[in-house]
Amino acid sequence: MTAAADPQDATVEGCPRHVAIIMDGNGRWATQRGRPRLFGHHAGAKRVREIVEACPDFGVKYLTIFAFSTENWKRTQVEVAGLMTLFRRYISKEMRHLRERGVRVRFIGDRVRLDDKLIKLMNELEEATAHNDHVNLTIALNYGGRDEVARATQRLAQDVAEGRLNPDNVDEETLPKYLDTYVLPDPDLVIRTSGEARISNFLLWQSAYAEYEFIDTLWPDFTRAEFGALCASYGGRERRFGAVKA
Ligand code: IPE
Ligand code: IPE
Ligand code: MG
Repeated sequence: MTAAADPQDATVEGCPRHVAIIMDGNGRWATQRGRPRLFGHHAGAKRVREIVEACPDFGVKYLTIFAFSTENWKRTQVEVAGLMTLFRRYISKEMRHLRERGVRVRFIGDRVRLDDKLIKLMNELEEATAHNDHVNLTIALNYGGRDEVARATQRLAQDVAEGRLNPDNVDEETLPKYLDTYVLPDPDLVIRTSGEARISNFLLWQSAYAEYEFIDTLWPDFTRAEFGALCASYGGRERRFGAVKA
């Protein structure tokens, strides 16, 4: 296939090329059913496949999902350990399917605090899908927008200190090159499920001009149909990027 036939950068008219989702509400979904929070996380993980597979139908080339934040370590040890086990299982179980479906998977976030077995699986999944380009799935795991900017700044400062970068040349184009998302376009649409209207430290720099949708549905109940409706309503919005429409 030629680059022109399937350009990564093509935008389908009226569709968000990059959608980012804050998958919230697993705990409440489980509590409503009288079950432990981890039951909700398992149900939430099961929703991911359907949404990833729906992307091409709605013109979405990049999907970024918030799986675990740098603040989520504050939860009980049982919940954190359960989530880490779930991430390991998810990767092992989905690896083949994602590879065969043409999904390229990337992880963003700080891997340092994650356990070795999980890091190994994350690397394996990235490598196994590195040649795919049908859909780009980015999983934010131990991710925080402020933490990302702090880590980026540290590396940028290192480059200045070692003479690779002139401070006079640091501008809006320079910093994003140091972010975890350096290969991704900025999100066009950010969806948060569960009724909370906040961004909880997700893609702070990258979402400066994203459109937002805060919906009441709890993540385990989120469907392909609802995803499609949000993508369609994005097409009706007028993005001005600070300018006045001519
Ligand atoms: C989102 O669901 C998943 C993670 C943060 C890991 P929550 O666990 O935050 O669910 P609620 O918000 O408590 O319902
Ligand atoms: C955001 O949800 C993080 C993820 C979805 C992984 P939280 O449930 O952690 O956010 P707060 O605590 O409601 O802000
Ligand atoms: Mg929550």
